[in-house]
Amino acid sequence: MSAILAWVPVGAQKRHVHTVVEIPRVEARVIPIGTEKMQILLQVDEDGKVFMPHVGAPIANPQEFLRYKGGRRWLREAYPAQGGTFLGVPAFHVKYKDGTHNTELRYVSHQCHASDGVETTAVALSDYVTSLEVRLIFCAYAKENVIKAHTEITNAGKTPVELLEYASSALNLEADKYLLTHFRGDWAVEMQPVHEQLEYGTKVIESRRGTQGTRNENPSFLLSLGSDSFSEEYGDVLAGGLCWSGNFTLSFDRSVNGRLSILAGIASHASAYPLRPGKTFVTPDMVWTFSMEGAGGASRNLHRWARREGVYRGGTITPTLLNSWEGAYFDFTTPVLTGMIDDAARMGLEMFVLDDGWFGTKYPRNSDKCGLGDWELNSAKIPEGIEYLAAYAHEKGLKFGIWIEPEMVSPLSVLAETHPEWVVQSPGREIYQSRNQWCLDLSNPAVQDFVYGIFDRTMQLAPGIDYIKWDCNRPVVSFGSPYLGNEQDRFFVEYVQGLYSVMDRIREKYPDVMIQCCAGGGARVDYGALKRCNEFWTSDNTDAISRATIQYATSMVYPACAMASHVSAVPNHQTGNVTPLKMRFDMAAAGRLGMELQPKNLTEEERALAMRCIASYKGFREVVFTGDLYRLSSPVDSDYYSFMYVNEDKSKAVVFEFCLRYQARESRDRGLLLKGLDPARTYKVVEQNVDQSCWWGNGQFFHGDFLMEGGFNPRLVQSGASAIFVLEASQ
Ligand code: DGJ
Repeated sequence: MSAILAWVPVGAQKRHVHTVVEIPRVEARVIPIGTEKMQILLQVDEDGKVFMPHVGAPIANPQEFLRYKGGRRWLREAYPAQGGTFLGVPAFHVKYKDGTHNTELRYVSHQCHASDGVETTAVALSDYVTSLEVRLIFCAYAKENVIKAHTEITNAGKTPVELLEYASSALNLEADKYLLTHFRGDWAVEMQPVHEQLEYGTKVIESRRGTQGTRNENPSFLLSLGSDSFSEEYGDVLAGGLCWSGNFTLSFDRSVNGRLSILAGIASHASAYPLRPGKTFVTPDMVWTFSMEGAGGASRNLHRWARREGVYRGGTITPTLLNSWEGAYFDFTTPVLTGMIDDAARMGLEMFVLDDGWFGTKYPRNSDKCGLGDWELNSAKIPEGIEYLAAYAHEKGLKFGIWIEPEMVSPLSVLAETHPEWVVQSPGREIYQSRNQWCLDLSNPAVQDFVYGIFDRTMQLAPGIDYIKWDCNRPVVSFGSPYLGNEQDRFFVEYVQGLYSVMDRIREKYPDVMIQCCAGGGARVDYGALKRCNEFWTSDNTDAISRATIQYATSMVYPACAMASHVSAVPNHQTGNVTPLKMRFDMAAAGRLGMELQPKNLTEEERALAMRCIASYKGFREVVFTGDLYRLSSPVDSDYYSFMYVNEDKSKAVVFEFCLRYQARESRDRGLLLKGLDPARTYKVVEQNVDQSCWWGNGQFFHGDFLMEGGFNPRLVQSGASAIFVLEASQ
């Protein structure tokens, strides 16, 4: 039974009118949502409330929860709403036209269907007083052990409502301890892992930057259950990632009884979303995984799902490349670029990417001070045209890529002069600049068409543009959209929806073009962007030492096939560090390898090493792109960073090791314990790119169990030393 309390107008005689809406009784049931090794249970009580009694390893007889006796006080609803008797942090909070805030969701029906190893369960809930409908959708990937969840909210009533909170998904679980691993960061120091025990209360990870959602935190995490320590191999770990490239919130609420409620979704920050009658709001997907094999197991699950679906054409080999940015910056003409293409071809690279600086006529883009928005070729720099450059690259056997930053406009640009109303702005207030630029208002359909047009026209600059680097170099501040008028609450949500609709149109017309998502380095590394992009730019920091931590933490959630990693010059332009060229190549070989320097500045010896490293990379990259990752030692806790990839049938593996800091010559005498090999098979172990191996067993055959039990002990004793070994099974 639920009661409606209606206030009569102020000034009129006060009296309470109660009408009671009958909530139909339903059959109690348990709805299992499961993969081979993960299960979420939903339990429907007779009053229609839907609880979540279990998240973790599969329970064979989940219906036994129906016989459970005891209080329900400790249990949380599967999608807790503000209202009823609920006092916690709500997944869902609605303000109605009459000013009330109460929603009580009850079970209506559910449906399941399965196809291609994915079982989809849709649970329909309704608020019987306000006719608000909520559908919880779960897609369970049996083999990948991933459950992807989102929510669909329909206003079936007659008046508009305001969505104040609208999480994609909520999970409730119970353990003695919860060790949260999340990723703080900033420009050139992205993805720094933070481990912290969750105490009582609410821990929130969020972004309010509008664009560049992953600059300071990533919408992903790992949670080690019942443990004080982070383990690669052991223990129960729940992990997740939100598929959204804008403001997000992940909250972890540990209640007084010890249970933990996790909410993941769009941040409600300045986004009380208006939902008109008859309209449906679809939240972004949240991807969950669970593993009893520690953090390593959780990462491998996410990677497998990412290669199947989370990354656009994930797991397919993308070309090695030379990018012009750090080698030329804005300072180039055709001969500089053709010279780079010649060198790239000679070194065995497979693509040339022309970065920033090729456009702008009235305001030529010769620095970051002007030109964004004016995507016409600067023919003073490249009089022969992009067509000429692309053809030149293609003749040399290289693919050709080009950079754009379509969401942005320079105040000094023809675009800013002709369409000032397209700029994100708030009436009467300064439009603050960051990197001398403003944001375009992607909530406006006219701007969406313009941004689509930039991509489309860039693709027409030459036949066979193979790759686009899509950059985004600032956040949104002092937000406002001239287009949205007095509905500014829609801005942050509709900006990202606008961006995705542009990208989806692009994908329809250009399914084969490779797209890199970049945002001033790694500020757009999320599964919302990656659904539309082949890869991400991990960081503008290409120093191999810094990259060790950045790539290590990135690998906890995102797969190597999408992680762009470039060899740059020394001293490193960001950090000033000098690291050996071999170490820079070995670090870049952990993902999609590229180079980003002026090859003319390499010595003959360095060039020869580059050619050797690129050639050997081509021989093992398939294992990097499609194999299972095992992290062996952490660059944060150890002076050595080591990890390996193993292909699906365990016939081939690649082992990487880096000495990051010298401590003591003897510290690495103990063998490196390899993982994931077949213990009974023999593997030929060959170090790459050296004449003199750092391991006594180089070139010989060893059983998998010997290699996994400490027999493998390469000696890397100086900081900057690194090694890559390829292991191939002999039968
Ligand atoms: C920021 C990116 O991260 C760099 O790689 C480069 O493309 C510059 N923008 C160009 O302005």
